[in-house]
Amino acid sequence: MRILFHAADGNPEPWLAELRTVFPDAHLRVWQEGDNGPADYALVWKPPLEMLQQRAGLKAVFNLGAGVDAILQFGDALPQGVPIVRLDDAGMGVQMAEYVTYAVLRYFRRFDEFEAQARAGQWRFLKPHDKQDFAVGILGLGVLGSRIAQALAHFGFRLNGWSRTPKDLPGVQCHAGAQGFDEFLRSSRVLVCALPLTGETAGLLNRDTLGKLPQHSYLINVARGAHLVEEDLLKLVQNEHIAGATLDVFQQEPLPPAHPFRQEPRITITPHMAALTLRGDSVRQIAGKISAMERGEPIAGVVDRTRGY
Ligand code: NAP
Ligand code: GLV
Repeated sequence: MRILFHAADGNPEPWLAELRTVFPDAHLRVWQEGDNGPADYALVWKPPLEMLQQRAGLKAVFNLGAGVDAILQFGDALPQGVPIVRLDDAGMGVQMAEYVTYAVLRYFRRFDEFEAQARAGQWRFLKPHDKQDFAVGILGLGVLGSRIAQALAHFGFRLNGWSRTPKDLPGVQCHAGAQGFDEFLRSSRVLVCALPLTGETAGLLNRDTLGKLPQHSYLINVARGAHLVEEDLLKLVQNEHIAGATLDVFQQEPLPPAHPFRQEPRITITPHMAALTLRGDSVRQIAGKISAMERGEPIAGVVDRTRGY
C-alpha cells in the first residue's frame, strides 16, 4: 500500500512514525513538488492543488482535520470520484466542549467583567446573570456542535441549535434551515458557531444576523474566520449590542499584529486551537477506515462535495 502524506505546517516525521505503527508494510512518502507517482491513499492538511490534481487513481483522500474547506476550495479541479474523508471527532469533540464551556461560563459568571475590574483596581459586586435569560444557540449540530450541546446541558443552560436538516437532540430546541434562523437568533443570548465553511455559510455572522441577537449578547466562533464579517462584529461590540466575543479563527491567520481585534478588550482571541488534531487518535481512525475500505466495507465521514461538508 502506498500512502502519500502532506501537512502544510509542522514536521511530518512524527506522523510517519505513527503511521508505521499501524501500517508497518506500507510505503509511506511525504509529497514533494513534482511528485505525480502512484499512491493509494493521501493523508493531507491544507494540500496544494498540484498534489491532488492528477490523482484519479487514489482510493481516498483523508483530511487531517474536521473542516474540508481547504480542499473543496479547488472545486472541479479535484479528481472526480475520489472520496474525501474528514476526521470524525477523533478527540476533537471533547476539546471543543471544553473550549466553548469555558467561554460560556466566563460570560455567564461575568468573569470577563471581573477581570476588567481587577485590571482597573476595582472591587465591585455585579448581579449574576439570570440563566433563563442566557440561552446558548449553537450553529451546527454535527459531530462537534452536538458534543458542545451535551457539555453545556450539564450546567442547565437553555439550548438552541440550528442545522441544515431537522434534528431531534435531547434538551435542545432545534431549528433548521432559513425558516428557523431568525427565531433561533432572537432566542439565543450566546451564539456559538460550529458550522463548516461552505458557500452557504461564508459571511453568515454579519451585521444583520448578529443584530437579531438580543441586546448584550455574546459570540463564540470556533469554526472558520470566513464565517464572520469582522468589521461588522467590531461595530456591534463598540455600540455594545455584542457584549463580548471569543474568537478562535480569523479571516487571516495568524491574526495580523495591527488587527483592531487586538485592541478591543471585549474580544478574546486564541490562535486556532479550540480543537487540535490529535495524531494518535487520528491515525487510528484513518487506519480503521483504510482497513474497512480494503475489505470493501463502507466508511463514515465521506464528504458530500455538492453540500460542501
Ligand atoms: P459536521 O459534523 O459536518 O457538522 C456540521 C453541522 O453544520 C451539521 O449539523 C450541518 O447540518 C450544519 N450545517 C452545514 N451547513 C449548514 C447550513 N447551510 N445551514 C445550517 N446548518 C448547516 O462538522 P463538525 O465535525 O461538527 O465540524 C464543524 C466545523 O468546525 C468544521 O467544518 C471546522 O470548520 C470547524 N473546526 C474548527 C476547529 C478549531 O480548532 N477551531 C477544529 C475542528 C473543526 P446537518 O446536520 O443538517 O447536515
Ligand atoms: C480544524 O480547524 C479542523 O477543521 O479540524
